Amino acid sequence: MPPVPDDLPGPIYQDAARYDAEHWWKTDDLPFWKKMAARHGPRVLELAAGTGRLAPSILATGASYTGVDISAPFLERAAANLAGEGSAVKLLQADMRSFDLGDTFDLILIGFNSFLHLLTDEDALAALARARAHCHQRTRLAIDIFVPDPLFLYRPENRRVEAMRYTDPATGEAVIVEESNRYDPEGELNHIRWTYSTETRRDFLEYEFVMRMYYPDTMDRLLHEAGFRVASKWGDYDETPLGPDSALQLYVAVPDSAVE
Ligand SMILES: C[S@@+](CC[C@H](N)C(=O)[O-])C[C@H]1O[C@@H](n2cnc3c(N)ncnc32)[C@H](O)[C@@H]1O
Repeated sequence: MPPVPDDLPGPIYQDAARYDAEHWWKTDDLPFWKKMAARHGPRVLELAAGTGRLAPSILATGASYTGVDISAPFLERAAANLAGEGSAVKLLQADMRSFDLGDTFDLILIGFNSFLHLLTDEDALAALARARAHCHQRTRLAIDIFVPDPLFLYRPENRRVEAMRYTDPATGEAVIVEESNRYDPEGELNHIRWTYSTETRRDFLEYEFVMRMYYPDTMDRLLHEAGFRVASKWGDYDETPLGPDSALQLYVAVPDSAVE
């Protein structure tokens, strides 16, 4: 396995306890991934698996779960979160642009906007090529990202908008996370800043990170270039087709040579 660069994806993915605490509200994708694992498993690989948030829903179908992530602290947390699951779980530290597990899977997924950490076409194609190398003829590749919203991208640079609220498990304090951003349309890169405050500690923590904004036509092109055919394209977890009002882009792709 090639070495994992330590500059990616930045400090935002170092504090795994904070990540789990602040994303308490993100549960709407769990039934979707459970359904996908039941339909397309049982050998499931998640790229950018993080703290293993999606794994219990996948494992509940009787599937095996392999999680790859670049962040060592997130994988440690995933191992603790999934400690009771036994040999059905494998966790590996690797970059999704260069991983090589020497195996194929029935379902490969990149959930909850992780694909947006691939900042260039080159990065996206590298990750898709690695996913393609882990496919057999009937593998499904499923990707969940949001649809870029111009109203969000072109907010005034210093405008802070409340993004999340959570309770810090260590201190019991209520924390508010505010978001501001600067969009670079040339590279389709959104430079995001999250600022954390409690009632008594204003701006006690700050993270800056970058996300590439992928539009549906770009996703179609990249999946095609990487040797996939889009089999389904939904705009919501209930499998509504992608349309003008969709907030999400959910792709299910198959290797180009696959026979349905
Ligand atoms: C938004 S989190 C999603 C985590 C998890 N899939 C979930 O649904 O909660 C994004 C994850 O992508 C990982 N990541 C970012 N770039 C990566 C890369 N090049 N290779 C592997 N993992 C990466 C981060 O470490 C982080 O865990």
